[in-house]
Amino acid sequence: MDKLRISGGRPLEGEIAVSGAKNAALPIMCAALLTDKPLALSNVPRLMDIATMAKLLGQMGVDIEREGDRATLRAREIRDAVAPYELVKTMRASVLVLGPLLARCGRARVSLPGGCAIGQRPVDQHVKGLQAMGAAITVEHGYMHASAARLKGARVVMDMVTVTGTENLMMAATLAEGSTLLENAAREPEVVDLADCLVKMGAKIEGAGSDVIRIEGMRALGGAAHAVMPDRIETGTYLAATAAAGGRVRLTRAAPDSLDASLEKLREAGALVRKGAGFIDIEMTGRPRSVSVRTAPYPGFATDMQAQFMALATIAGGTALITETIFENRFMHALELQRLGADIAITGNTAIVRGVERLQGAGVMATDLRASAGLVIAGLVAEGQTVVERIYHLDRGYEALEKKLATLGARVERIK
Ligand code: EPU
Repeated sequence: MDKLRISGGRPLEGEIAVSGAKNAALPIMCAALLTDKPLALSNVPRLMDIATMAKLLGQMGVDIEREGDRATLRAREIRDAVAPYELVKTMRASVLVLGPLLARCGRARVSLPGGCAIGQRPVDQHVKGLQAMGAAITVEHGYMHASAARLKGARVVMDMVTVTGTENLMMAATLAEGSTLLENAAREPEVVDLADCLVKMGAKIEGAGSDVIRIEGMRALGGAAHAVMPDRIETGTYLAATAAAGGRVRLTRAAPDSLDASLEKLREAGALVRKGAGFIDIEMTGRPRSVSVRTAPYPGFATDMQAQFMALATIAGGTALITETIFENRFMHALELQRLGADIAITGNTAIVRGVERLQGAGVMATDLRASAGLVIAGLVAEGQTVVERIYHLDRGYEALEKKLATLGARVERIK
């Protein structure tokens, strides 16, 4: 299994381009299930999760042609409306096929995702919404069996803000009879990107980006061409890395307005951050100041940036409170950061991080995608060598991580 060896202590300098957003590309690929016409995508990141989604869709009969960052998907006919456990357990976003399959084929069999490292992650809101739209859903042998002659528009008030739940229901509603109102909808930029793509396919959607989305169902959708939005979490990760390691970095092909909560926190930490047209500059000199964060749905501080900011706090001047409100078990990186010399105490859903002068390199284990990113940032500032194990987690969500870091002057090497 691959590992990442990082020799820390160098500032980051230079320019890199942001990749397409994993969490926008995944639902958008599923939107291809809604039409028999081709969906031509660009800025698709080259990631393990994208390959997993392509495999899942391929099994269902979707033709997929990939070249570089382009992918054309065409679901002429859906052979098999099934998402098997083997794929769903490795990638929870597989559940995003449920709404589109049901809307297009009137039936779907999708494995329950089960728990994962960061928490329980149930899908009750996806189910509840589809039931409100007239679907019959039963659970047998770990699979959701869903059927509906044609989904009917409905008013759905979600109990909590769920990103993939909103996406699943929005996609299903595009082919339902009548209009659907999604209330307490997720406002994440990825939801907006999906809505933009669906509108290009002929869907009628209003309010994406607000907490009420109205969808007017259509008989059929057509093909479209769409460029996936830039990855705001990848962007934030490199910015946090620069704030921690020091230096001067420009991130191009970015969506500068999609991560204001993180930018604000980086400024609080003492970084100079400047937004331009499609780029973000960051400059950091001296030791960062401690900044506390509390995760919240968009536009609040993203849970997917929590581990990276915890890493930053470990070497900052002062004490930071890091509070996780979205997932109940998303502090596993704290124990690994302690192996590098971090001073972290956890009470309930808050980590109290007292900044230390320096971290020391050590072997650490990645537990999930964003936790791994936090460990890499810590490795970049630690003295000596840090070896991050289980970097398949990183490969799921960061395109060419070690190449991009090397471009910025970091000493990072993948070892087999
Ligand atoms: N929830 C329920 N019931 C549901 C759905 C969600 O109780 O039916 C709860 C979850 O357990 C959680 C909260 O609601 O406590 C929010 O979860 P959400 O559904 O928003 O998460 P998700 O859609 O499964 C997406 C991202 C995650 C990101 C979260 C939160 C994708 C493919 N994944 O997950 O990204 O952390 O939103 O912003 O969009 C990552 O990229 O590393 C990642 C984990």
